[in-house]
Amino acid sequence: MLELTLSDFSIEHFMQHYWQQKPVVLRQGFKDFKDLISPEELAGLACEEDIDSRLVYKKRGKWQAENGPFESYDHLGKNGWSLIVQAVNHWSPGVAQLVPPFAFIPKWRLDDVMISYSRPGGGVGPHIDLYDVFICQGSGRRQWRVGDRGEHRQFAAHAALLHVDPFEAIIDVELLPGDILYIPPGFPHDGVSLETSLSYSVGFRGKSACDMLSGFADYVIDKERGSTLFSDPKRPIAQHQGHINASDFARIRAQLQSLLDDDALVADFAGSFLSRTKCQLDLQELDEPMDAADLLVNLKTQPLVRTGGLRCFYLDTTLKQGVCYVDGERHAFGANAKAGIKALCDHDVLTTTLLRSAIKQPDFVRALTQWVNAGYWYFKD
Ligand code: SIN
Ligand code: CO
Repeated sequence: MLELTLSDFSIEHFMQHYWQQKPVVLRQGFKDFKDLISPEELAGLACEEDIDSRLVYKKRGKWQAENGPFESYDHLGKNGWSLIVQAVNHWSPGVAQLVPPFAFIPKWRLDDVMISYSRPGGGVGPHIDLYDVFICQGSGRRQWRVGDRGEHRQFAAHAALLHVDPFEAIIDVELLPGDILYIPPGFPHDGVSLETSLSYSVGFRGKSACDMLSGFADYVIDKERGSTLFSDPKRPIAQHQGHINASDFARIRAQLQSLLDDDALVADFAGSFLSRTKCQLDLQELDEPMDAADLLVNLKTQPLVRTGGLRCFYLDTTLKQGVCYVDGERHAFGANAKAGIKALCDHDVLTTTLLRSAIKQPDFVRALTQWVNAGYWYFKD
């Protein structure tokens, strides 16, 4: 099991003083770190249709970016390029081990683990991200420069590469295997590989209000809610035909607000919206489906492991009703299922001890059996 060690301060201190506020280097955050995937396996993943990957390099001094899947890497020189693969935690249980050390941040904030394999001189160039990232250095050394937040002009160095103007560094470090660089959103940064290296970026997402409202609008349409028409009986005679007056504006706002004020509606939306994955899951359907009895027998001898990247959440209000959200879908098990829901959503590995009360509930066992048959959870052996 990978363990995060902060030598200069506690995790509480990190959350209070750095998280979302300023970048910091966590030297030897992972002691004796060994790569969790080989470059060959990573290159193989980037040949798959379902996996997002990119190659970034310079050609005659000009930045180039190609999207995968790739058939060959023969056109690349020895140095000066990077292969970046998204959501590797979905496909590699080894890489998924990088997620539990960051459990002090809830899973709904997690995005994915992106890995970059870089040859000497390789990198994606100076840029700004919209997410928090812990860049964990695997094998090889890499030089990182991070600038301060502020006004930085961004431009397209290539149609698929948004870069930022040169910046003054507030951090300029060489990362060694096991070192971690934390960067909050908005800080320009640039990592150039000094040797052939692997970096693992554990990224956390924060949705914009625009993303949330657009998702909420889709949800409301899907649920056929919010169809009550604007109404204004007994309205006074209009004085100015072109005027949307203050009381009309208040009614318009109230019409929109009534949906946002419905806690149950917003909680149901948040649960399903935030539990959806951005990237595909590696669901391994069982060739021979098991029934509930087989599941319970197996569970006695081995734990159930959640497939990498699967998102499962509950909110206070939904937990009370025994409702949780798995991969964008709502599941209702009744108020007695609280312990089962917490086990399911809070843990990556399910044991009989964790599921003690849940396995007495036929609905819950039925759902778990279906999930195992569809590959959402699996028995390791
Ligand atoms: C990289 O690993 O090459 C890019 C990571 C980042 O800058 O966020
Ligand atoms: Co970045």
